[in-house]
Amino acid sequence: MANLCNVDGRIAAESEARIPVLDRGFLFGDSIYEVVRTYGDVPFGWPEHWQRLQRSAAALRLPLDLDEPAVAARVAATLAAAGHGDSYVRLIVTRGTGSAPNIDLAYASGPPRWLILVRELKVHSGAPVQLAIVDRLRVDRRALDPATKSGNYLNNVLALAEAKDRGATDCLMCNTDGFVTEASTSNVFARLDGVWCTPPLTAGILAGVTRSLLLAFLPDCGERVEERDLRPGELRHADEIFLSSTLRDIAPVTHLDGRALHGGGIGTRAPMLLARFRDRVAQRLRDHDQPAWRRLLSHGST
Ligand SMILES: Cc1ncc(COP(=O)(O)O)c(C=O)c1O
Repeated sequence: MANLCNVDGRIAAESEARIPVLDRGFLFGDSIYEVVRTYGDVPFGWPEHWQRLQRSAAALRLPLDLDEPAVAARVAATLAAAGHGDSYVRLIVTRGTGSAPNIDLAYASGPPRWLILVRELKVHSGAPVQLAIVDRLRVDRRALDPATKSGNYLNNVLALAEAKDRGATDCLMCNTDGFVTEASTSNVFARLDGVWCTPPLTAGILAGVTRSLLLAFLPDCGERVEERDLRPGELRHADEIFLSSTLRDIAPVTHLDGRALHGGGIGTRAPMLLARFRDRVAQRLRDHDQPAWRRLLSHGST
């Protein structure tokens, strides 16, 4: 059972895998990525992650040279070689090796470099979080749109470090207008006056796959949900707050800026929603994701 890395179709141990020093992903963060989790050998939410990868590529003017069946086949081969069962899959596409360490796209001779990291899944699902609203702002949409899942994550790296300095486990970043955006690698939902509120895409956030599933799922659970701008001060009056992401699913927030919510414990709604969300995921896997993944793989081999 090893951590594996597939580089342009060749599978190696993660510790042995190499990329050239002139790879633009390494030099400039000139890359895009997705993190997908699997149940057994089946990725969950593959269509949504694949579509977001296409959108990120278009936003970075990065033409992709592999189609979906070809990439799915590489993912499946790497998963099979790793043999972990439930897995963490990180799919990275860089703009490839440049002809010089120069940011100008004229030096980007390509082709794109495709990497797939496969690791055993360390379960974060539902793990409680302590949040700090950090001073560092989320990068502005007009500078580098957070909706693009690029390899340029220094904004998030430094915001998370600031939160940890304050004794929290994750950060919440605001935008240049002072509205709440998202955590380092998760979206945020806060229950205010009986409504689950989450920042809109216009606040400058990643369009999380989990966030989008929850916008449809919460009303099915009898919960009201709204996308709207949130001030940090409003969060301090929230009944409950949770983060959402592929790895976390629904993660209850126990502290905000050092202040305990629910006496430092977990609110009542998030665990109930998490249990129902896991059921919904299992149902979708059985009815949709598993057969669709098998079809995609058989399509690739014909
Ligand atoms: C900045 C950011 N926001 C939100 C998310 C959650 O997105 P998803 O639900 O698609 O995992 C991520 C995931 O990595 C992220 O990096």
